[in-house]
Amino acid sequence: MKNIPERVQLAHLPTPIHKLDRLSQELGKNIYLKRDDYTGTEVSGNKVRKLEFAAKEALQQKSDVLITCGGLQSNHARATAAVARRLGLKCHLVLRGTPADSWTGNLFLDKMLGADITFLEPDLFNERHMDIMEDIKHDYAQKQMTAYLLPVGASNGIGTFGYYAAYDEICQQEKDSDQYFDAIVTAVGSGGTCGGLVLGNWHHHRKHRIIGIPIADDAAYFQEIIQSIMHDASLLVGWNEVPNLGSYQLIDGYAGRGYALNTPEEMAFIESIAQKEGVLLDPVYTGKAFRGLVEEIRKGSFDGLNDILFIHTGGLFGIFDKTEAF
Ligand SMILES: Cc1ncc(COP(=O)(O)O)c(C=O)c1O
Repeated sequence: MKNIPERVQLAHLPTPIHKLDRLSQELGKNIYLKRDDYTGTEVSGNKVRKLEFAAKEALQQKSDVLITCGGLQSNHARATAAVARRLGLKCHLVLRGTPADSWTGNLFLDKMLGADITFLEPDLFNERHMDIMEDIKHDYAQKQMTAYLLPVGASNGIGTFGYYAAYDEICQQEKDSDQYFDAIVTAVGSGGTCGGLVLGNWHHHRKHRIIGIPIADDAAYFQEIIQSIMHDASLLVGWNEVPNLGSYQLIDGYAGRGYALNTPEEMAFIESIAQKEGVLLDPVYTGKAFRGLVEEIRKGSFDGLNDILFIHTGGLFGIFDKTEAF
């Protein structure tokens, strides 16, 4: 691995890789899951890998508070609240929407972890959340407290090193087990996971096909974001080349009704995987993206790629907000 920024150790790594036997047989391919839903409990999922790098930077800057933002059921917000507490810091969340009558899933855990929360109406959040986080940072400064800002999903230059390092972890697991993958597939929600994998793969001479499946918006929107995240990451460590658009693929068609909204087909798919393989996918990210992978395999888009690794990026707590829909 090239020289990358320092990190605090927060996740249980390496996460295991499991083969899904029945689905593999059904599809005529070897489908594996990298269980990043096992990175921890309070800090479970992909976010903690990014937070290991961002939190180190926050500590280096002698921060007292972590400020971040996301949807009401944001996994990233909950993981940030947990990381803050682990490190003895405060957390302030700016969330999109107003709380429902019952506080459930990640929102419940945000409260348990004692995060301060500012709720914004969706339109205001979309237009001004970064400015509002800056205002909150300023308010803490007035109280002699240093605040560290993390963008949505910790998907920025520093955060993306989480998946740069995860890519390296996968290569090591391939060597150790003599089980090599043709493609690595992930959900794309804010771009940092995919960006980190692409950067890692680029520095390993593009051994794998890296494929992202957007769970909201579309490929054109995310390409721009992923390029910019990789650019910022490269600037941080003085790399003078950024992977080009041809170095990865984003597959459209599985965002469904949009962010955090589901169709009956998506819900039925999540339930079918739970019952076929004993694996719980989440409704917002992995359920949609994994469904996309299975559909695309059925359509023939993965012909010639036999060993496929899907990153289970976590998000389980989000399921509790959807029990009625299930
Ligand atoms: C469970 C889960 N999976 C996948 C993603 C997508 O990762 P990224 O935001 O890095 O694109 C997120 C967050 O957005 C997430 O919470």
